[in-house]
Amino acid sequence: MKKILNLNTGAPIPILGFGTWELTGNECLKSTKKAIEVGYRHIDTAAAYGNHKEVGQAIKESGVDRKDIFVTSKLWRDNLRKEDVPEALKTALNELQLDYLDLYLIHWPDSEVPIAETLQAMNELKEQGLTKAIGVSNFTINHLKEAMDTGIQFSINQVEFHPTLNQKELLEFCNQNNIILTAYSPIGRGEDLQHPIIQELTKQYEKSAAQIILNWEMQKGIVTIPKSSNPEHIEGNFKSLEWNLSLEDVERINQINEKNRLVNPDFSEFDK
Ligand SMILES: NC(=O)c1ccc[n+]([C@@H]2O[C@H](COP(=O)([O-])OP(=O)(O)OC[C@H]3O[C@@H](n4cnc5c(N)ncnc54)[C@H](OP(=O)(O)O)[C@@H]3O)[C@@H](O)[C@H]2O)c1
Repeated sequence: MKKILNLNTGAPIPILGFGTWELTGNECLKSTKKAIEVGYRHIDTAAAYGNHKEVGQAIKESGVDRKDIFVTSKLWRDNLRKEDVPEALKTALNELQLDYLDLYLIHWPDSEVPIAETLQAMNELKEQGLTKAIGVSNFTINHLKEAMDTGIQFSINQVEFHPTLNQKELLEFCNQNNIILTAYSPIGRGEDLQHPIIQELTKQYEKSAAQIILNWEMQKGIVTIPKSSNPEHIEGNFKSLEWNLSLEDVERINQINEKNRLVNPDFSEFDK
């Protein structure tokens, strides 16, 4: 399995990242530092998580060079207008105490604001070096087509993806168009750990359920960003990089697909 993928900009992205949604304050600082200590070099945050300051502090205190950590943040829905985008990114950078992001994502699409308007503004920030790459999140195939019509290069679509929400068509579309899919809520926020097929595989491989699931995603060429505040889970999840499920067992998990969407706020624009 590849541990590093390349974005369509050419930049490397570690296939396994650390998610930070719902980690705030000291818990965020401690968990993010632990993640960097055990080897994660990719951190996922967002303006909406209210933890930029702690994520930035963890990076600083880790002693690891800034350039060796891939940092993603996301633009919230109330800042999608072109005049609001530069300020939103500059605020994020100030809070994180960083000079640039590796990746800046539109957190959620909003049909009230043309995708072209936001992407254009983000692309200008990329040209200024304030973010090395741009991308989107929670985009359906239709949103992606609209984004592609702008001709602006974007690199990632970060979406909910786990064994019980195996977005086959969306993944194929991303693969065909050189857009990397990042799996958020990659272990189904804990719900998929008890699935009977996953449980069976834990015995067969003597690995934890989380390790089985994360390994499956990475073998499919998907970036995955599990979150944890538990030091043992943080370390165990990182070890999912060290071995491989057989192709047969990857296929067994592919067959689960129960359309179990867990993150679906009232403003979402998913296909019905
Ligand atoms: N773009 C978006 O709209 C969006 C939406 C949702 C999430 N995300 C990103 O994706 C990241 C991950 O998603 P998520 O936080 O929703 O869910 P997740 O990573 O699928 O699951 C997190 C839950 O699983 C538990 N867990 C983690 N490792 C475990 C292990 N080895 N064994 C048992 N339980 C384990 C955690 O509890 P403990 O803390 O106790 O380990 C936590 O309750 C987020 O943190 C965020 O960065 C993005």
